[in-house]
Amino acid sequence: MCAAQIVPEEQIQRQYEYMDLIAARNAEQERLSGRKPRAVAHTFGCQQNFADTERLAGMLVEMGYALTDDLNEAGLILYNTCAVREHAESRAFGNVGALTHVKKARPETVIALCGCMVQQEKAAEKVRKSYPHVDLVFGTHALWRFPELLFRTLTENKRVFDLSGDEKGEIAEGLPVLRGDGVRAWLSIMYGCNNFCTYCIVPYVRGRERSRDPETIESEFRELIAAGYKDITLLGQNVNSYGRDLGQGEDFSALLRRLDAVPGEYLIRFMTSHPKDASPRLFDTMAECRHVARQLHLPFQSGSDEILHRMNRGYTAEHYRGLIAYAREKMPEITLSSDIIVGFPGETETDFEQTLTLVREVGFDMLYTFLYSKRSGTPAAEYPDHMTKEEKQRQFERLLRVQDETVEKRQADYLGKRLRVLVDGEGKDPNYPYAARTEGGLLVCCSGQGLKTGAFAEIEIDKTTLRCLFGHAV
Ligand code: SAH
Ligand code: SF4
Ligand code: F3S
Repeated sequence: MCAAQIVPEEQIQRQYEYMDLIAARNAEQERLSGRKPRAVAHTFGCQQNFADTERLAGMLVEMGYALTDDLNEAGLILYNTCAVREHAESRAFGNVGALTHVKKARPETVIALCGCMVQQEKAAEKVRKSYPHVDLVFGTHALWRFPELLFRTLTENKRVFDLSGDEKGEIAEGLPVLRGDGVRAWLSIMYGCNNFCTYCIVPYVRGRERSRDPETIESEFRELIAAGYKDITLLGQNVNSYGRDLGQGEDFSALLRRLDAVPGEYLIRFMTSHPKDASPRLFDTMAECRHVARQLHLPFQSGSDEILHRMNRGYTAEHYRGLIAYAREKMPEITLSSDIIVGFPGETETDFEQTLTLVREVGFDMLYTFLYSKRSGTPAAEYPDHMTKEEKQRQFERLLRVQDETVEKRQADYLGKRLRVLVDGEGKDPNYPYAARTEGGLLVCCSGQGLKTGAFAEIEIDKTTLRCLFGHAV
């Protein structure tokens, strides 16, 4: 496998030229109206999509827009869409449909859709036919060409669609990024996915796996630390296969060590890990690195080997148990979370029971459970599926009950304990005015003199609920 191609410097430069052209138009508008034109950039979907929106937002600011959440004052509305489940798509379409009113009231508003959902030919076609108020549509591979595509939309007086694929497997570096709140930051270390789990659309809409250069990642990481970010999450669909395509011998563990060596007081998190590629070496590294949070999100999807095989996940439930046991041996205090799919085609009651057993055995701190959603174009969409919607729903609810019981117990174990947390915002409860995260990523609402957003603190836990720990500074 060969390393991803970096988009040539002169092409990035061209995007900056387009940004300048749009900025000049917006400056003129600002001169006439007395304020900057407003843009909405909204994300549906996962952290990868949020990270992409931060790049799009960076470009928008460079182009002279001020960001807003208010659709009624926006001159540009950009929705970054998700395709992972039907629900994500219907939500996006629902929101886009609602924009017909905006377009009617203010026809000059530019409406743009991008990301995973519209990377699919079928979805883009639906937009073309049934959503005529959408002016600009571009997929995940065209993200870095946003300025050029927007310029064409503004000047050519016709709809612009760019669904180019990932034939070149490119990575674009050197474009602006606008990040949120100043404590937590996302950092993409790789794009795409090669795993082709049989239920999943992601490899089709995000293209093949490609890793960013470790030096580039490190310099962005150093910038984040220098800017005061304290909690950095490294992102990829399968971070455990980081670096394979680079052929430089630097794998994910080596990348963690490289970043961990950067001086400062901060936490490194990462997601998502795949059980097929997670290794004892990774857990050794986590245990030895000072800044790497004791937190592991390791989706197992199903506790049945038969189902795992038909999902093309590449491991057994036993292998998964072994990984968890090793991780806990190395880091007894580790916080564990996972993703589970209920109602995969052909799943039987016995398969489902095996999932429940695994959930009970491991005792996760957090679970993300999903009802299987058929994605056309994936192999599982063709698998026979006998279970009714109601049966699946009942299983889903059973799983949630089991999980709530486990989480409640796990949370209760923290009562009276002292934990190091990072304060990252305001809490909703006036008695606990600060929101913080433990190293394991659990939410803690806390009180106490001297707590400050962006600072670490020692907290003693006073009470616990299913969703949150409560504590005071010590
Ligand atoms: N790359 C990550 C997951 C990305 S998608 C990994 O492999 O762990 C996030 C989660 O969505 C998956 O873990 C899976 O549980 C769920 N998911 C993906 N496709 C789905 C589908 N068709 N129906 C229901 N859930 C799905
Ligand atoms: Fe989808 Fe599997 Fe890739 Fe995760 S690893 S994004 S579930 S194909
Ligand atoms: Fe959705 Fe794309 Fe993420 S399909 S889950 S936004 S990679």
